[in-house]
Amino acid sequence: MEVVILENEDAVAELGAQRIFELVKKKPNAVLGLATGSTPIAMYKKIISFYESKVVSFGDIVTFNLDEYIGITADNSQSYRYFMNRELFDAIDIEQQNTHLPVCGAGENPREIGAAYEQSIVDAGGIDLQILGIGSNGHIGFNEPGCSLSSRTRVKTLTQSTVRDNNHLFGPNECQPHLAMTMGIATILDSRRTILLATGSQKAAAVRHAIEGSISSGCPATALQMHERVTFILDEAAASSLENKSYYRWAHHQNRSLVEQFGNFHEVVEPDSY
Ligand code: GLP
Repeated sequence: MEVVILENEDAVAELGAQRIFELVKKKPNAVLGLATGSTPIAMYKKIISFYESKVVSFGDIVTFNLDEYIGITADNSQSYRYFMNRELFDAIDIEQQNTHLPVCGAGENPREIGAAYEQSIVDAGGIDLQILGIGSNGHIGFNEPGCSLSSRTRVKTLTQSTVRDNNHLFGPNECQPHLAMTMGIATILDSRRTILLATGSQKAAAVRHAIEGSISSGCPATALQMHERVTFILDEAAASSLENKSYYRWAHHQNRSLVEQFGNFHEVVEPDSY
């Protein structure tokens, strides 16, 4: 595991975008796993800047989002499809047909939709880089506490705490869904590389549990401890409860020395990472 602690939210967004940028330059037809929520928005803005400065094209990139609400349609401003179009896709040269979300429309069978989503990820060659946020209860995607750590894309009932956390995003007359389709924990663990972004003190307890707690479905993000190439990119506030903070800083410093010594950080530390 790589744990990178940075001064603020902007630095977290910058490093996240930089890692995506490096991958897209190296593999222009890479498969990206993307996340919604407020945390990755700043990173998406930086990606758009990279694109606008014409240093990178997303023309051959394929994306799979972690999750989508059940019960609202793509044209609803609360849908994750709408969010992705607004925050990223509409501003870059990605092909809409290459962008995927686990949409389960009215009358469709979530089991079939989940299995088909898994198959399309496999058909695309697997996810090269999965971006994650984390819920204050330790969820990743919408894999809520108590979920199977071997789960695949399926329907999940949201916990009351997640519904509460996300309630401020919905207006008084908007219906807030309590069900969502989400990639499973096993789907996420299959990605070749995973980056979890977390900012703000409201994430500190979940981050500490995810990195330093025992692996348990009580905190689904702890499953990432079993991922061979996971990076946690945190701001100071999100990292504030970590016990081994000084070790993570020191290890990160060592990694930077390796870059100076051998060049590309990823090639040195993670030879076949992409
Ligand atoms: C939602 C999403 C998650 C996201 C989480 C945290 O529930 N399904 O993928 O990581 O919220 O959101 P935020 O970044 O707004 O705190």
